[in-house]
Amino acid sequence: MSATYSEQAPAKVNLFLHVTGKRDDGYHLLESLVCFTAAGDVLSGELRDDGKITLSITGPMAGPLSLEDTENNLVTRAAKTLQTVSGTALGADLILDKRLPIASGIGGGSADAAAAIRLLCDMWKLDLDAESLDRIALSLGADVPVCLHGKTCLMAGIGEEITELSDLPPIPMVLINPGKAVSTPEIFRALEADGYSQSGLWNTNAEFASGAALCDALADCGNDLFLPAASILPEICDVLSALAREEGCLLARMSGSGATCFGIYDTTEQAERAANLIAAECPDWWVIPTQILCQETRVLSDIGASFPD
Ligand code: C5P
Repeated sequence: MSATYSEQAPAKVNLFLHVTGKRDDGYHLLESLVCFTAAGDVLSGELRDDGKITLSITGPMAGPLSLEDTENNLVTRAAKTLQTVSGTALGADLILDKRLPIASGIGGGSADAAAAIRLLCDMWKLDLDAESLDRIALSLGADVPVCLHGKTCLMAGIGEEITELSDLPPIPMVLINPGKAVSTPEIFRALEADGYSQSGLWNTNAEFASGAALCDALADCGNDLFLPAASILPEICDVLSALAREEGCLLARMSGSGATCFGIYDTTEQAERAANLIAAECPDWWVIPTQILCQETRVLSDIGASFPD
């Protein structure tokens, strides 16, 4: 089948993530600086005029997902919600090229759901306002609205308060996942709630000319989910040490609820060298050199991963 529409689903990276409180319904209030990377999944599709929605999953990370009922996949759920809200009679055959590890703190499922919303708005020629799209996104998961924006944002509330910020430069980065999924609800449950972070710490007007300037500002922040995640999966500490000890590493930190960590490097060569060395040393880890997505890099090119088959 030749797909006629295609949409990128870039990985989301939480450059910092502060938990600032908890709502009565159990969801946590967050403040997080989110950026996107040139690495990501790719969703493509063909139009159907009978209203049916199908999903097939390919790619190096398709494994565990292809065993699950695709009706439960966030892509199918996003498509069906959009179909209901818009009232369209159209359908789609969708193909998800899964390159990001699942349940890994870089928004794989959320990025895919957001890509489905963007792709189908285009395919079905929908003209829904931004507020309705954000509402649909939030109904699918707390990280889906930020992924729908797909650019550097400060995210607050449980994920629904989004402030788009100035683009960051295409800063070199390495993403590493130790090959083990962690459960987001479990990490939030393990969070010690006896002291939340203060909110409003990030200067939303700040502009950064380099990775070094960004990392200076990020030094005052952290990821509040790191300790609970590392207590459940201590290998996260090994990943951080591996990133930090390579030449040129300016910052190594966990993204989201883990287990994926990112390293920011001074130069692209250093990021590539670090990724090659670590991948050779730890062949079971998913290791990928990439860069922060900005206007110049938004046209995504080769986003293959070095995860072993
Ligand atoms: O919304 P999403 O499916 O991504 O969230 C998964 C789980 O993570 C939620 O059911 C909740 O337990 C926890 N969570 C939270 N606070 C958030 C986001 C997620 O407690 N802001």
